Order: sequence, then C-alpha cells, then structure tokens
Amino acid sequence: MVKIAPSILSADFANLESEIRKLDQAGADMIHIDVMDGRFVPNLTFGAPVVKALRPHTSLPFDVHLMVENPDNMVAWFAEAGADIITVHAETTPHLDRLLDFIRSLGCKAGVSLTPSTPENVLSYVLDKTDLILIMTVNPGFGGQSFIPGQLEKISRIKAMIGERDIAVEVDGGINPLTAAECIAAGADILVAGTSVFANGDYAKNIEALR
Ligand code: DX5
Ligand code: ZN
Repeated sequence: MVKIAPSILSADFANLESEIRKLDQAGADMIHIDVMDGRFVPNLTFGAPVVKALRPHTSLPFDVHLMVENPDNMVAWFAEAGADIITVHAETTPHLDRLLDFIRSLGCKAGVSLTPSTPENVLSYVLDKTDLILIMTVNPGFGGQSFIPGQLEKISRIKAMIGERDIAVEVDGGINPLTAAECIAAGADILVAGTSVFANGDYAKNIEALR
C-alpha cells in the first residue's frame, strides 16, 4: 500500500507540535519536512533546531527534504536532530556519491531528489547507495502549485531503472486524489502532500482520499 508523507510546509507554523500530533493520529506514515535556504529555492523554512524540537512529539519517521545549496555541510545537523531519511537534490552537489555514503554513515536513509528538468540518468551510478528517490512534480520552493504531468513518464522510467533494488519512489508537488492515482499507477511508493492533506482540517479523511 502506498505511504502518505504529509508536508508540514502547509501546517500552522504557530502550532507545529499539535499539527504533528494530529497528523500522527490521522494515519500519516511519515512527516515530510521541507528545508529551504532562500538560495537553491526562493523560499526559507526550517533549520535543524526546529526538527530537533519536534522530534519528541511523534514516533513517525522524519523525512527531511533538503532544498539547500551545499547540503554536504548540513546533513550531519539534521541527522543529529533526529531525521530518519535525508534527501538531497542531485542539482546541489558535485559529489553525490560521497554525500550519499556520508548520509548512510550517519545512520540515516539516503535520498536523492530531482527537480522537474533533471533527467533520471544522474541516478545511474548511485543506485546501490540510494534508499529513496524523490521525484519533484512541481518546481521546488512553494506549496500549492500544479502537478506537472510530464513527470509521470520520469516516475515510470525511474521505477524501471530501480528494478529489484530496495529503493522507494517518492513524489512531491501538486498531489491530490487525482494526481495521486496517476503517480501510484506510474510506480510511486510514497506520496508527499501539503495542500491536499491540510485542506479544510480533516487530515484523516484527506490522507485516506490520497490512498
Ligand atoms: C515543494 C515542497 C513540497 C510541498 C508540496 O517545494 O517540496 O513538499 O510542500 O506542497 P503541495 O502538496 O501543496 O504541492
Ligand atoms: Zn518536499
């Protein structure tokens, strides 16, 4: 069954503790934390101290999506703060192979994300050190954008590249019940959703609708 990773980018930032508890009770499989640096993407969000402050309030895995320049310098902070999965963008490091090894050495699962314009061939030689591939189905930086349909083909191609390897395929951006079904059909294992989970307050119903 597909896993749902609500993005707290759409949560009430003044009440993150209660938002996380509500997501836990609503049946979320993990908590997706969008870290933005105002450089790689034109928006700023949370740093490792916020992740650390939230860690005691749920036992759900923390799925940290780093949208930052120079992630090599930051991954250790997020591991220490309690991240379970750390995903970096292939576009942000010339040393992806080394960085994935480093993330695993910190005791975390290692993820690679691709923006919509990045072809999947950058993954070819790092599949053996990757636990998760995050396919952006919007241009990263903001919640509430429209799903880019051309990315469905990329999901299928990446699923085929993975073959029998134990690598999760996660999609992020513009996921609603309609696009969720298309992504699942294309091979997605984990759906990230912000807007559609937090809409009108019934998180459990919204999460169920995505499954
Ligand atoms: C966008 C973030 C997403 C975002 C998704 O850069 O990576 O995780 O929260 O938001 P929605 O579901 O609203 O597209
Ligand atoms: Zn994200």
